This record gives sequence, structure tokens and C-alpha cells, in this order.
Amino acid sequence: MNLTFTEEQNMMRKMVRDFAQNEVAPAVEKMDREDEFPTHLVKKMGELGLMGIPIPEEYGGAGMDFTSYIIAIHELSKVSASVGVILSVHTSVGTNPILYFGTEEQKQKYIPKLASGEYIGAFALTEPAAGSDAGSLKTRAHKEGDHYILNGSKVFITNGGAADTFIVFARTDKDAGSKGLSAFILERDTPGFEIGKKEKKMGMNGSSTVQLNFDQCKIPASQLLGEEGEGFKIAMANLDVGRIGIAAQSLGIAEASLEHAVDYAKEREQFGKPIAQNQGISFKLADMATEVEASKLLTYNAASLRGQGISCGKEASMAKMFASKTAVKASTEAIQVYGGYGFTEDYPVERFFRDAKVCEIYEGTNEIQHVVIAKHLLKG
Ligand code: CAA
Repeated sequence: MNLTFTEEQNMMRKMVRDFAQNEVAPAVEKMDREDEFPTHLVKKMGELGLMGIPIPEEYGGAGMDFTSYIIAIHELSKVSASVGVILSVHTSVGTNPILYFGTEEQKQKYIPKLASGEYIGAFALTEPAAGSDAGSLKTRAHKEGDHYILNGSKVFITNGGAADTFIVFARTDKDAGSKGLSAFILERDTPGFEIGKKEKKMGMNGSSTVQLNFDQCKIPASQLLGEEGEGFKIAMANLDVGRIGIAAQSLGIAEASLEHAVDYAKEREQFGKPIAQNQGISFKLADMATEVEASKLLTYNAASLRGQGISCGKEASMAKMFASKTAVKASTEAIQVYGGYGFTEDYPVERFFRDAKVCEIYEGTNEIQHVVIAKHLLKG
């Protein structure tokens, strides 16, 4: 593919890069240390129109193309992968399910608030005993009059502590396996809904990850998203798109690792010359650069397909799998280039490493990405 960008896409890159350098970078160290959700940055992203980049203007979004949205996640993640994932989850799996599967009334009610950043969105699929096997989830929903009553719990919900709306998946038919799941739009202040334990994580500090509890949680029947039984397909279809966002986030971490390693290798002298002049270092940098480039091509290829409305589940999984592996490898190698300094908190490469690991896990582990890719290859 030919990786050229339109004038509009280049303007998006410049705008997000400026925002990341001027506003996100000064907040990164404190966000990492104190693990506080960056409410002020999300508010600013809303003002800049970043919280609804690919959302049509008629629903209050910026009405831009999908690639522009991926550019924003890529650029933000070079400075803060936590801010990158907040945007990715909010848009891909927090807002898009309503756009693609909601009634006109649901779209009018929620999307303008999500697209402006007044509301933050989250996606509640994973449960303590249902991670990769999402179709086996146990949170139950049964209808009573004009409400559904939900009981159960969710874990590892990104944006959960800060979100105003949640796309929640629950079982409405206990005998129908993955075809017995339904999706709901849940508002934060719904009776019987509680935000549970906040996870302490090795990285992605600042990005909120919480448990959710539903105890006789009463949701109006009008909040059902799509039809009863369509929940699994809604989850999978939106994860196809979401995984391109995680690929872009991984790409941002990998590219930042490479850039820092190159700069340091040119500066740091040992044995009377910059360490970059040793093949042991320069070949490492060459491998990192090649894998970053390959991740970029895979990620923007999947984004381009998505933008053209072409089915891209396989390409999204390939991009997410390869870019996340590259992020882990590049950040590990960056620490190696920095030597002992890389192992300290004085340089950002140890944070890149801590942030990279979960990219191989969330929105489907890399083992699950193999399953998805293989299913596409073998289905005929
Ligand atoms: N789009 C639409 N429909 C799909 C689909 C897709 N991408 N993938 C599957 N389906 C449909 C299938 O067509 C099938 O329906 P039919 O029988 O009518 O054809 C149905 O769903 C069941 O499909 P499978 O038999 O393939 O389902 P499975 O149970 O074997 O699971 C899986 C497949 C790929 C392993 C899936 O369970 C999966 O992706 N698991 C990973 C879950 C995941 O990614 N969790 C991430 C949590 S969210 C998160 O991390 C967000 C965050 O906070 C950062």
C-alpha cells in the first residue's frame, strides 16, 4: 500500500502532535506516578473535537475519516499510551456500537454527548470467568415489564471509573450460548449499578481499569441495543474496529521507543565514541525501525479498509497482533540501548515497556488474534 495522507489527515496529525507535546507531555510523569484519570486532558480533547473524530457531524462529531481517528491515537500514544487508550475505547467500543446498532432515538440521546466529550464511553464485556471465551459470560438480564434486571459482574473495564455510559453485555437466554447474549446502554447512575475495585496495574497508569457490579440493576427496556440475542455479534463487530485502535496505540509506543533509542545511541559515548557506532546497537535500531515500519503499514492498511467500508477483521487482528508484539520488543530493546539508565524512572523507556505489555492482552489476546486470522483464512 502507498502510505500517503491527505491534507486534512496531515492537519489532524499536526494538531494532535502539538496537543500531545504541549498539554499531554507535561502531565505524563504525574499521571504515571499517581495513576489519576486525566480529566483535564479529556476535557481539552473534547474541546478540540478529538472525542468524536469519525462520528458524523449530524450526531455532533467531527465527521472525519477513520484514518484521521487512527492518526490521533497513534500520535497521542507516542507521548502517552494511557491517553491513547482512553480515546480508543471511548470511540471504537464506547460510542460506535450505538452509532452502528442503536435506534435513531438512542443515537440522538447519547452520541452528541459522547462525541463532544461531555460523556465518556466504556465497554463492559469481560467477566472474571469469561475473558477470551467472551461468549460464555454469565451476567444475566431478564425482562420485567418495561425494564431489564441485570445481575453479575465485569472486570478490567477500561475508562470504567470515569465513564458516563457503558455498553454492557448480558445473557438473556441461558441455553443459547453466544447467541443468548444481548447488549445494553447503561447510564452510570442506574439503580443497582456500582463501580467496583480499581485495579493497580504495572502500566497504563492514568487509564481507569475497574470492576463493575450489577445487583438487581434496573435498565429501561428502551436501552436494549439491537435485538435480544445480537449481543455477541455487536461485541465482535465493534472489536474488529477497536483492534485497529489498539494497533495504533501499540505503534505509538513502538515508534516512541525507537526515537528515544536512536537519540540516546547517538549521544551516549563509551570507549570514546557514540554507542550507535557499534553494530551491536545499530543493527538493533535497524531491526526496530523495520518492525515499526511494518506495524505502520499494517495499521494504516486496516484503517484504510475500514474507512472504505471494506470488511477488515483479519487485517485488524494482524495489525493489532504485530504492532503490539513490536511495541513490547521495541520498548525492551530501547531499555537495552539505554543500559542501566533505561531501568530507572529517570527515562521514559521503562514506562513504554510497562505500557506495551497490555497491548498484547486487551481487546483480545494475541493468541485470540491468531484464532481470528486463522478462521478468516480457512473459512473458504
Ligand atoms: N463480526 C460479526 N459476527 C461475528 C464476528 C465478527 N467479527 N466474529 C464472530 N461472529 C459471529 C459468528 O459469525 C457466529 O455467528 P453465526 O453462528 O451466526 O455465524 C457467532 O458470532 C459465534 O462465532 P464463533 O463461533 O467464531 O465464536 P467463538 O465463541 O468461537 O469465539 C472468538 C470467537 C474470536 C474467540 C471471540 O470469542 C473473541 O474475539 N474473544 C476475545 C474477546 C475479546 O476480544 N475481549 C476483549 C474485551 S474488550 C477490551 O479488552 C476492551 C478494553 O477494555 C480495552
